[in-house]
Amino acid sequence: MAIELNLTGKTAIVTGGSAGIGLAIAKGLYREGVNVAIVARDSDRLEKAISTLHALPDQGNRAISISADLSQAESIEKVVSQVISEFGQIDILINNAGSARAGELVNLDDEAFLDAWNLKLLGYIRLVKAVIPDLTSRRDGRIINIIGGAGRTPRANFLPGGTTNAALLNFTRGIAKELAQHNVRINAISPGFTATERAERLAAQTASERGISIEAAKADTIRAIPLGKIVQPEEIADLALFLVSDRAASITGTEILVDGGQTPGV
Ligand SMILES: NC(=O)c1ccc[n+]([C@@H]2O[C@H](COP(=O)([O-])OP(=O)(O)OC[C@H]3O[C@@H](n4cnc5c(N)ncnc54)[C@H](OP(=O)(O)O)[C@@H]3O)[C@@H](O)[C@H]2O)c1
Repeated sequence: MAIELNLTGKTAIVTGGSAGIGLAIAKGLYREGVNVAIVARDSDRLEKAISTLHALPDQGNRAISISADLSQAESIEKVVSQVISEFGQIDILINNAGSARAGELVNLDDEAFLDAWNLKLLGYIRLVKAVIPDLTSRRDGRIINIIGGAGRTPRANFLPGGTTNAALLNFTRGIAKELAQHNVRINAISPGFTATERAERLAAQTASERGISIEAAKADTIRAIPLGKIVQPEEIADLALFLVSDRAASITGTEILVDGGQTPGV
């Protein structure tokens, strides 16, 4: 028997929903009958993503795009009020928009850290804060923070991203306790090396930093993954769909790694 997710008619915000992991999650939610608002900066890419969503089978649900720079505090309220005026409520938040520069510490200026913290750490925190009133007033909400394995297992040459992710793990666990009393659940998914444009960019940065080819950088990455393969964005999407469904009604404050066994821990 198929697992019934019962998500039809709900409304979701997916940040960074125009590409990579965010787009895969938006597609999965849309197929389940969820109204989806995807948020990113580039309007052309957003429109392409909306066309991709509209080409999928729907259940009378809709998809909209909102162009916003989520590193800017003032964008956050704008996004939330636009989604509420369009769909009446928010049930699901997928915090996913993030980007961080790779490189040796000596080559990274303060901006490399501040940019990563501002977009991903503060961006996720601000969005959670902005949706809390709507979720708690209806005593129902499901939030996913897409974080990353470098939060728990630090990686060389990836400190802006790693420090962002470590702080977000702390935030996810801490806020889960506050939100549980309102029946709002929040969980983290930490992808390992996942086949997206961002992964391509990071491989290129690592390659130039180490003076090797991009192919050699990727081969090194794959060699370090016990299952020997790169994660596909759809694997992250499948897990996100399960975690925001009632099938996961007792799961909150957790982090689930999807990394081919690369960073086991106890
Ligand atoms: N791919 C991996 O291997 C991997 C591993 C661990 C963790 N992660 C995490 O997974 C998340 C998604 O990664 P991905 O690989 O799917 O990235 P991606 O392919 O680069 O896509 C990033 C998405 O975020 C949007 N975005 C970037 N900056 C933004 C901003 N300032 N405001 C609003 N939207 C913005 C992008 O659109 P615009 O550029 O048009 O704004 C795009 O839609 C990130 O948080 C990343 O840290 C990824």
